[in-house]
Amino acid sequence: MERNTRILFVNACVRAESRTLKLARRVLEHLEGEMTELDLAALDLRPLSRETLARRDALLAAGDRQDPLLKQALDFAAADTVVIAAPYWDLSFPASVKVWIEHINCVGLSFAYGPDDRPYGLCRAKRLFYVMTAGGPILPANSGYAYVKALCESFYGIPETVLFSAEGLDLRGADAESIMGGAEAEIDAWFRNENQ
Ligand SMILES: Cc1cc2nc3c(=O)[nH]c(=O)nc-3n(C[C@H](O)[C@H](O)[C@H](O)COP(=O)(O)O)c2cc1C
Repeated sequence: MERNTRILFVNACVRAESRTLKLARRVLEHLEGEMTELDLAALDLRPLSRETLARRDALLAAGDRQDPLLKQALDFAAADTVVIAAPYWDLSFPASVKVWIEHINCVGLSFAYGPDDRPYGLCRAKRLFYVMTAGGPILPANSGYAYVKALCESFYGIPETVLFSAEGLDLRGADAESIMGGAEAEIDAWFRNENQ
């Protein structure tokens, strides 16, 4: 029997009135499946330390997949669709996203190395949506999104990343409501086109 489509929603939004979260909810409205939300602020993952790195290596060597230390990587690898909501902070994303990446980037769970020493993906997802809003302009390099896209392509084997964004929201005189409306309309149009 076909299992339910699993959507992993990685929520790195911090502010109570988060506009990034508003856009991400709009994306989620278009997706069907069983959604699990990771509230990164509440989860409060720790960066890998000397101890956790050694423990993770030992777990992987022993084939023990029950330990909570491996949970993020296993859940990420098992998701059919991933949605990341990350406000544009310091030209990138909040540190919670980097810490989460440290947890999911795990040899043998989300990717492995082939005989040519190149990484190949072990993840189910075919698509990752990256949702962001920015107070000013998003620089052309868009380092946060570009980094996640590179990881998807080089490590996880997730072939498609889709970016939805709204920028310039905090600029003097900006009509934030209309910028947000435009971004929501773009999301709706993207899915309309996808479902045609
Ligand atoms: C800690 C912090 C860092 C930020 N860094 C940037 C930045 O580098 N560039 C920018 O354009 N806006 C920056 N902003 C503004 C946010 O990108 C903007 O307000 C965004 O819409 C916040 O998303 P939210 O409404 O989901 O919290 C920053 C805001 C905060 C709180």
